[in-house]
Amino acid sequence: MILLTGGTGFLGGSFYLDAVKNGTAADCLLLIRGADEAACRARLATNLMRCVDRATAQAYADLCQIIPGDLQSLATSTDPRLDAVTHIVHVAADTSFDSRHSVWQINVDGTLALAARARRMKHLQRFLHIGTAFCCGETPWLEMVSEAPAPGHDTPHIVEYTRSKAAAERALAAGFPDLPIVVCRPSIVVGHTAMGVRPSASIFWFFRLVDRTGVLPCSPDGFIDIVPVDWASARLHDLLRKPELKHNLYHISAGLGSRTLWSDFQAAFAAHGHEGTRPYSFFDPKGPEGWKPFDRAFRLAFPQRDILHRTMMAGGRKYHRFTAQDIAFDNSRLLAEGFTPPPRFADYIGVCLTNPGTTIAEQFVDDAASFEFDESLAPAGSPATAAA
Ligand SMILES: NC(=O)c1ccc[n+]([C@@H]2O[C@H](COP(=O)([O-])OP(=O)(O)OC[C@H]3O[C@@H](n4cnc5c(N)ncnc54)[C@H](OP(=O)(O)O)[C@@H]3O)[C@@H](O)[C@H]2O)c1
Repeated sequence: MILLTGGTGFLGGSFYLDAVKNGTAADCLLLIRGADEAACRARLATNLMRCVDRATAQAYADLCQIIPGDLQSLATSTDPRLDAVTHIVHVAADTSFDSRHSVWQINVDGTLALAARARRMKHLQRFLHIGTAFCCGETPWLEMVSEAPAPGHDTPHIVEYTRSKAAAERALAAGFPDLPIVVCRPSIVVGHTAMGVRPSASIFWFFRLVDRTGVLPCSPDGFIDIVPVDWASARLHDLLRKPELKHNLYHISAGLGSRTLWSDFQAAFAAHGHEGTRPYSFFDPKGPEGWKPFDRAFRLAFPQRDILHRTMMAGGRKYHRFTAQDIAFDNSRLLAEGFTPPPRFADYIGVCLTNPGTTIAEQFVDDAASFEFDESLAPAGSPATAAA
């Protein structure tokens, strides 16, 4: 029995869809937040409907078993099905970039509640804990980050979310060395190689914004580490099932071979006819002008000054602090296990652009909760209210 958390989200949803496709969905027990089992199953089906039609989504959602509840409730759960769990895939997290309190409550306390319950699972063989490669903190110009234990609390972080994910890893290592934990750290998960942004627009809006504004706070020779969700979830299945693994910590990343050079990024957007500002120009946010080159380019590309666009500008700047680091994450451990290497982002940008073909602002709405954007504040008729 596989206990899956986060099955109603982007990466966990893709993991579950893979399980349906490889015939193991009936072995899955999903922890889902909701009033009762029917409500949870309906939430799972709604998430699946982003990928398949309604009837198929409902049929897929009926295949698994469900525990209604949140992570925190697991520590004290007496549900006997938990005793039969042999594998855990812990994907659930609060991924908000603006939250300060709930990222600690969910990502640390919730993870520890799960680990405490896992200790009583007598048949447990493997516990995949999904972290984030950016738990390394703000480390500009390292170029290639290799897997290392999560750094201490005082390491600078751009957002509290990544600090909380580092803390969760440290707490697991300190408090649960007896559990068969394998930490999997994705880099930046964007789109699906066949379905584009249908499963989730996630931060694709930001990459379109990069192309639309044409300015980047990093080196012209720089790059970014992006992987598609279907490749990432397939690697979680690999890491879950391979009998022996050489390590207990893996990047799920593009690495040296598949990182995206900004020159390839630009060429791919141009090749698919995206409305961009090219050639890109590059600036140093630590220079005398600070972030002004980005602000100017943003205002030129998006003259609207409503709350939606102001939030989008703040979100763009925050994501740009990650691009300014100019780093990628070494995936040689993963490849040495014999698993399929990742495709390059430039090779599936076209799929992401054709599907579903909305505006940048509309796609931002899909991700806006990360920036605590309150849709009720959006001006009437704006993309936010239209999409709601
Ligand atoms: N996406 C990326 O680019 C990326 C990159 C690096 C690492 N990661 C890691 O990958 C994992 C999945 O990310 P994602 O993008 O798929 O996130 P997501 O779409 O926001 O999904 C988060 C999932 O966690 C669930 N969840 C949140 N709080 C919970 C709680 N207290 N109890 C139970 N379930 C809870 C959510 O359930 P509800 O539906 O009830 O809200 C949802 O199913 C996270 O651990 C994240 O840190 C993601």
